[in-house]
Amino acid sequence: MAFLSDTLSRVKPSPTIAMTNKAADLKAAGQDVIGLSAGEPDFDTPENIRAAGIAAINAGKTRYTGVDGIAELKAAICAKFKRDNKLDYTPAQVSVGTGGKQVLYNALMATLNPGDEVVIPAPYWVSYPDMVLLAGGVPVTVEATLEDDFKITPQALEAVITPKTKWLIFNSPSNPTGAGYAWDELKALTDVLLRHPHVWVMSDDMYEHLAYGDFKFCTPAEVEPKLYERTLTVNGVSKAYAMTGWRIGYAAGPVELIAAMRKVQSQSTSNPCSISQWAAVEALNGPQDFIAPNNEMFVRRRDLVCGMLNAIEGVTCPVPEGAFYVYPSIKGLIGKTSKAGTVIEDDEAFATALLEETGIAVVFGAAFGLSPNFRISYATSDEALKEACGRIQDFCATLS
Ligand SMILES: Cc1ncc(COP(=O)(O)O)c(C=O)c1O
Repeated sequence: MAFLSDTLSRVKPSPTIAMTNKAADLKAAGQDVIGLSAGEPDFDTPENIRAAGIAAINAGKTRYTGVDGIAELKAAICAKFKRDNKLDYTPAQVSVGTGGKQVLYNALMATLNPGDEVVIPAPYWVSYPDMVLLAGGVPVTVEATLEDDFKITPQALEAVITPKTKWLIFNSPSNPTGAGYAWDELKALTDVLLRHPHVWVMSDDMYEHLAYGDFKFCTPAEVEPKLYERTLTVNGVSKAYAMTGWRIGYAAGPVELIAAMRKVQSQSTSNPCSISQWAAVEALNGPQDFIAPNNEMFVRRRDLVCGMLNAIEGVTCPVPEGAFYVYPSIKGLIGKTSKAGTVIEDDEAFATALLEETGIAVVFGAAFGLSPNFRISYATSDEALKEACGRIQDFCATLS
């Protein structure tokens, strides 16, 4: 009898974490490494939010809380949905978990039966398919190609929906491409879903506030109110508030679904960290004025990276609407050989050779379900980005 569960054998460890670890090993061995693989902002949690966490500790708010969040945070989340998304939710419709990741996981665990299908646009955040597998479901990918600006078409969505489809996971702006769906593009997708009343939408709005230029963020339940009853709107404080380590994410949806998610959480982790919850209350209710200057900085970095990558022959780097990632194609480099003799057979070979020969850590596209590409996280300093893109240019120039 095998000791480890069969379910676990279907799941692979996170390739983004694997790449980050490999880069750390090379750094420890003395190599000059620049990591562009981590998915988190490079600035500190704003001072007022940190102070709220410290105040919570000093006020003794360090005990168990309600399983899926304190009343004050649920109220702040309801106010946020009203303010930013024009969505009305009551506290009973809100669930708070240990990061957006746990909330998404709870929702899948609470709803999937063996064989249930979950539609996932590819390229996708690495955790979606594996979470679906862990919950006993079947991930069904639908390609969002570079030619379509990494956005799925209504026709492609329609084509993958079957009677077994339970969810569409929607993520805009996207990790790993940064692509953001405009209102009419999203409306075209929600129109498809109106024709399939058995399909629910899990909207992962984690990068909502990281939206640039003319792009205006929108979310499915806002764009198509008729989907409100079958939408779970997921968000969190990790990215916009630089709170990745605090581990607070949340979702809002129908009361029965939220109650089922609470049941999953009650028998696994119970409440998310009490101190982090109070810090998140301050994040959502406090001043939001640091977001705009941060976004200006991200736009500058995005343009720097896209400019330098698009100057490379064989590389195409679309300019994304949001988040802090770019997802260049390396179609024109496939089949070439590096100075050290590595044949660039695919994007994994490219990323490995790039790390070993230049010290630049990126994540290969196969990890996200669309090749041949790689992902750069530009949430790092301008100097590091210039140096890194310079080394990528030099590496590509020497491929023959
Ligand atoms: C698209 C997407 N969803 C969810 C998450 C999870 O965020 P959290 O830190 O809140 O668990 C991430 C984190 O990288 C992400 O990129």
